[in-house]
Amino acid sequence: MMKLITCFLAATVLLIVLQNHLVASLSRNLQKIALFQFKQSLTISAPTYCSYYSYLDSINVYSIPSHPRTMNWNMSSDYCTWEGVSCEHATGDVVGLDLSCSQLVGAILPNNTLFQLSHLRFLNLSWNDFSLSNQFPQEFGFFAKGLSHLNLSNTQFSGTVPSDISHLYKLVSLDLSELRVKLEYQVFRLLLQNLTQLSVLKLRSVDISSVLPMNLFANLRVLDLGGTGLYGALPEEVFHLPNLEVLDINNGNINLNVILPKVKWGCSGSLQHLIFVGINLSRGMPDSIALLESLATLVLCNCNMSGSIPKSIGNLRRLTKLDLSLNHLNSQIPNGLAYTNLRVLDLSYNNLSGLLPTSLFELTSLKTLEISCNGLKGQLHEFDSSKSQLEHFSCKNNLLYGQIPQLFSGLVNLSKLDLSSNNFSGILDIEMFSPLKYLSTLSLSYNNISLRSTGMATLPPKLKYLYLSSCNMKDFSRVSKDAENIKYVDLSYNQIDGVIPHWIGLVGRDSLSYLNLSHNSIQGGLEGLPWNVLNILDLRSNLLNGSLPSLICNTSSLEILILSYNNLSGVLPICSTDVSRLIVFDVRMNNIQGSLPSNLTNFRYLNSIHLHGNKLEGRIPSSFAKFVFLEVFDLGSNQITDTFPQCLEALPNLQVLVLKSNKFYGLINKSSSSDHPFPSLRIIDLSNNEFSGSLPAMYFKNFNAMMDGEPYKIRPSYMGDDYYSESISLVIKGVEIEFLRIINVLTTIDFSNNNFEGKIVDYIGNLVSLRFLNISHNYLTGHIPSSIGKLSMLESLDLSSNQLDGDIPQQLTSLYSCAFLNLSCNLLRGRIPKGAQLDTFENSSYAGNSELCGHPLSRKCDNYDGTHEEKDEDDDYFLTGFTWEAVVIGYGCGVVPAFIIGYLMLLAGKPKFAGIIAKELGLKIKRLDIRMR
Ligand SMILES: *[C@@H]1O[C@H](CO)[C@@H](O)[C@H](O)[C@H]1NC(C)=O
Ligand SMILES: *[C@@H]1O[C@H](CO)[C@@H](O)[C@H](O)[C@H]1NC(C)=O
Ligand SMILES: *[C@@H]1O[C@H](CO)[C@@H](O)[C@H](O)[C@H]1NC(C)=O
Ligand SMILES: *[C@@H]1O[C@H](CO)[C@@H](O)[C@H](O)[C@H]1NC(C)=O
Ligand SMILES: *[C@@H]1O[C@H](CO)[C@@H](O)[C@H](O)[C@H]1NC(C)=O
Ligand SMILES: *[C@@H]1O[C@H](CO)[C@@H](O)[C@H](O)[C@H]1NC(C)=O
Repeated sequence: MMKLITCFLAATVLLIVLQNHLVASLSRNLQKIALFQFKQSLTISAPTYCSYYSYLDSINVYSIPSHPRTMNWNMSSDYCTWEGVSCEHATGDVVGLDLSCSQLVGAILPNNTLFQLSHLRFLNLSWNDFSLSNQFPQEFGFFAKGLSHLNLSNTQFSGTVPSDISHLYKLVSLDLSELRVKLEYQVFRLLLQNLTQLSVLKLRSVDISSVLPMNLFANLRVLDLGGTGLYGALPEEVFHLPNLEVLDINNGNINLNVILPKVKWGCSGSLQHLIFVGINLSRGMPDSIALLESLATLVLCNCNMSGSIPKSIGNLRRLTKLDLSLNHLNSQIPNGLAYTNLRVLDLSYNNLSGLLPTSLFELTSLKTLEISCNGLKGQLHEFDSSKSQLEHFSCKNNLLYGQIPQLFSGLVNLSKLDLSSNNFSGILDIEMFSPLKYLSTLSLSYNNISLRSTGMATLPPKLKYLYLSSCNMKDFSRVSKDAENIKYVDLSYNQIDGVIPHWIGLVGRDSLSYLNLSHNSIQGGLEGLPWNVLNILDLRSNLLNGSLPSLICNTSSLEILILSYNNLSGVLPICSTDVSRLIVFDVRMNNIQGSLPSNLTNFRYLNSIHLHGNKLEGRIPSSFAKFVFLEVFDLGSNQITDTFPQCLEALPNLQVLVLKSNKFYGLINKSSSSDHPFPSLRIIDLSNNEFSGSLPAMYFKNFNAMMDGEPYKIRPSYMGDDYYSESISLVIKGVEIEFLRIINVLTTIDFSNNNFEGKIVDYIGNLVSLRFLNISHNYLTGHIPSSIGKLSMLESLDLSSNQLDGDIPQQLTSLYSCAFLNLSCNLLRGRIPKGAQLDTFENSSYAGNSELCGHPLSRKCDNYDGTHEEKDEDDDYFLTGFTWEAVVIGYGCGVVPAFIIGYLMLLAGKPKFAGIIAKELGLKIKRLDIRMR
């Protein structure tokens, strides 16, 4: 029995030995096959670029072209010679595989032969596309126990980081940057506890969303946790890691609170790059920062820091990049910065004050100097152009003054110069910048300088962005044709006269995408512009007097066209093609004639049509129902003779409809073709037309955008975008107001000065987010519906000059937001209700109702049958408090036939623009309303 067992054991041992031997001898061949099958499991994509992030020489991102390393792998050659493969010399085992940026595309599934390469110590698959894998294969956590470097950054794996990764206890570096994967807190904690060798940990963009565990290993050299959603307090021990060189939390999270050590930093000898962006450093920067003697990069950007920049920062002699932008720092700029070796200094978007230190101009190592958007005073000094390496200088939006130094023209490396929005003065020749052969951005806008161009201006050859708004320029007509890549030109708010400068069409014929010549005195037509490349054209407020060129029809690049406030004549373009991508078409306040062409709908992407203040006639074509993207349609102050354009009812996005001051007529109250007419409408102005019949009940029932109730919940936003903000003029509280931008909670109905008759429908009480309601100067009869009391947002209510009778409903006392009320010139009777809001109005709100009594009218309710004498008192009141310029002779409402002052004008003397709208908008009162009838 014993023998048998021994024999069996021996056999087993022999078998095992044999097997091991076999495995060892087969292993080389198996590894080759495994590698080759791995190659074949993936395809090779077209060449691309991969970008890297380097901490050297301040932070740089650079890209290199991809290279398909597996392309030439073939079974007839030794796999140890294959590109990207490293073998152990003695055994021939594959120990390293570096296939980063090799254009590999496909899935790495659990049965992939990659996972047979169990001897791997280095594995780099970064910058390939394995998004087809569905999940992050667990096998990475255990297939090669000896793995010391694992780099899967930018490989598009998704899912969850396998927990087994915390068993790879030999890992020295782990790079999972830019993987949109989840790393569970438990795994993260084990990983930091168990991987005692770990020195480089990069998890940028990995979703961790937890606190940072304590007990980090002393070996950590590089820690990159940007965009991981860490929150809570960052443990101070991080700053005491004795070998830490890089701590990078870029694109952090305002819920991550960091307090920098006040006295001692354990990493003071080693830390080279400290980068925090978008976290909460509300305790600011301590003096102890100066202890970091090796620090080369200090970026504390958008970190909610207030307080001062410590003077001690000048002791950081190795510092090459300092970025403290987007905080609330409010000290001066410390002089000591001059002792550093800064290449990049960015202090923009703070509250820095005091004089600009002259020492900044002596920092000859500087390449980027960004101090824009602060409250800095003082003058610019000359940079030493023989030594300076300056490439980028921006001081826009400060309080700097004095002359612009001539020596800028000697800074040969300059590529961006932005001096806009300061108080610089003096006369400057544009030629001064001609020698700057790398200059791509030049901005001098909004100063007090007078810019001249003597003779033929030579623009710097690489110039792309030219901003010379408000530079007192008179002439800019002759420019040499060097700057052939010019992209943005802003010459607005100057005194340029004559025709559109010829050079613009020549220099920018292949590149010009933004041209702003608004607010000049330019005459003539629109010829010679590079229509085929322009994206945004703003020529508003000039003296242009040509007609609209038919080229507008054929441009597929133009998106925003603003020609308002000119003398343009002719007709609207009749386009037979629909290549246009036009979004904004603004020709308000011109002399455009003729009718609205039905082919205008070939501009099918239009969001915004402004035709206000022209001489357009005829009707609104029914084809306008095709403008599915239309949000704003302003046809006010033309000569359109038509019935109400029912074709617009179904437009899903229409928010603003202005038809005022035309010759519209007829009933609106016909049956509607749409179940939900005007679903997005929130501003409708039909005033000063000849509409008749009853108020359109069907619409009042369906104005959903005026019923959403809780407008305070949404964040205020404005219509339009960075380049074009929607503007419109409305009569609000009796005064014509130009809304320079339209906030999304502005809601108004103006049906005044028409021939509407019948009752005010009860439904009006459903429009609970309505802010302005004007149905004055009509022939409305019946009572004021008590449902109006439900309009709790209402800021202005004008029902004046109708034939409303009965009592003023008590419910009106609950219009708590209402700052303007006009019920005058009706047939209202009885006592004016007392209480809350109604007590704040003066007698002008009620005058001209012969049977109304009580405060604030002087007519007492007990001698109810009082005669007309007291009325004169009320009318006298109208004449107080405003000047004749403000007085407008309107029309009588029967009681005082001679003239009644525009009651509303009273308000102009003491405007009450108290509501949210007024606050939000910074209203501009353009002119007083002139009402005639
Ligand atoms: C295999 O690769 C080697 C070197 O990588 C090359 O010299 C040889 O031509 C290749 N053979 C084939 C059949 O592609
Ligand atoms: C790997 O598994 C997938 C399914 O999970 C299968 O379709 C494929 O054929 C397998 N590949 C190999 C080489 O076994
Ligand atoms: C990972 O590989 C990329 C190259 O694709 C490299 O830039 C990066 O530094 C590597 N990560 C580590 C931790 O070495
Ligand atoms: C691949 O990653 C390793 C470390 O993970 C790194 O040392 C190597 O430089 C990277 N390869 C390339 C080409 O960047
Ligand atoms: C930690 O590493 C050891 C090897 O050093 C391993 O045996 C253990 O399973 C690991 N623990 C965890 C929780 O991953
Ligand atoms: C209007 O546009 C259509 C194409 O959308 C075209 O066929 C027609 O000729 C155009 N009409 C005029 C008058 O140009």
